[in-house]
Amino acid sequence: MSRLREMVESHRVIVCCGAGGVGKTTTATGLALAGARSGRRVLALTIDPSKRLAQTLGVARNLKEPAPVPHSFLVAAEATAGSLHAWMLDPQLVADRSVDKLSPTPAVAARLKANRMYKQLARMVAGMQEYTAMEALHGFLDDGAYDLVILDTPPSRNALDFLDGPRRLERFFDGRIFQLFLPGEKASFIGRAASNLIHRAMSGVFGEATYLELQEFFGAFENIMYALTRNALRTREKLSDAETVAFLLVTSPAPEALEDAHLFRHKVEDLGLPFGGFVLNRSLAAGVARVMPDRSMLGDAPTAAEISGLAKLRRLAELEWAAVDEDRALLAELTERAGPGAVALALPTFPDGAHDIGGLVQVARSLTA
Ligand SMILES: Nc1ncnc2c1ncn2[C@@H]1O[C@H](COP(=O)(O)OP(=O)(O)OP(=O)(O)O)[C@@H](O)[C@H]1O
Ligand SMILES: [Mg+2]
Repeated sequence: MSRLREMVESHRVIVCCGAGGVGKTTTATGLALAGARSGRRVLALTIDPSKRLAQTLGVARNLKEPAPVPHSFLVAAEATAGSLHAWMLDPQLVADRSVDKLSPTPAVAARLKANRMYKQLARMVAGMQEYTAMEALHGFLDDGAYDLVILDTPPSRNALDFLDGPRRLERFFDGRIFQLFLPGEKASFIGRAASNLIHRAMSGVFGEATYLELQEFFGAFENIMYALTRNALRTREKLSDAETVAFLLVTSPAPEALEDAHLFRHKVEDLGLPFGGFVLNRSLAAGVARVMPDRSMLGDAPTAAEISGLAKLRRLAELEWAAVDEDRALLAELTERAGPGAVALALPTFPDGAHDIGGLVQVARSLTA
């Protein structure tokens, strides 16, 4: 049995990371479908599926909780043995929920949620999406409704952004920053002095009202941030079990693929998370055997035009073969770097796309073949 199939059948969490546009959402959806096909209760957590994929899966924005994908989809995908829920993560909603849960009283929660700074948080702070994805995952790991959660990570420039996200957010909410903003007796002596300075500067620049909002925000969010950080640490602990969790890197056959793979693997291992392997998407290494055009294809008495056409075709085919060889070499290199316990797998480009049922079933099959 293929290693990825084993993961789909026995793991609890698979996280798909990768640079922008490489095929994370496609891979995550394919894996989720493969899980449902093997009889598991699967949840696909995604941040921003393409419009067509969202339509296919029937996921809408701003849903409060995961929704089952339409039954007709499961029937068409021969996946009725299991179940498939999808949820399009809304960072704001997840943050609001944490605020509700972690605030001392509903009134405090309501005040914080109405704060203008808070409302800007998801947009303002790099790492918020990644952080809330971890937070959502934390909740779903505790509740027994799903056998397998597939996490599709947010679009980002770099595959490592997702892993760095929580840390970047922690840095933003660094204790020293709180100290500067915390009003009155909660701040240290230095904090108070700086706070007075900031007060004067900020009220001068933005006006008193904005500064007060900032203070209120930092004051109220401090405790929540500590709780969120605790959850993130707990989630990370839960995610460190190599028996049930895998972090996959989805990559494309670009020149930087090997470098990305190297950085990703080290980062994942540095964080104490289980490395699951590489999915090389849109790779010619996954193609079917190709035939080189030759004279025998032309019959007994080919015309000059046919012979010249054939020569041109041969040159094209040679170029194509060279590209196939390159992708195969890349896959071989990734296989070696992945090591025995991990996956290195090539997905072809599906000519009709990978966002409708037919395409996604092909993705699911190729991933677990
Ligand atoms: N192997 C494939 N064959 C055909 N089309 C593909 C394949 N992989 C991905 N696609 C298509 O490429 C587009 C981008 O893929 P996808 O949305 O999965 O990338 P992503 O990494 O999630 O992007 P983002 O970083 O924006 O979230 C989609 O339209 C998808 O259907
Ligand atoms: Mg995506």
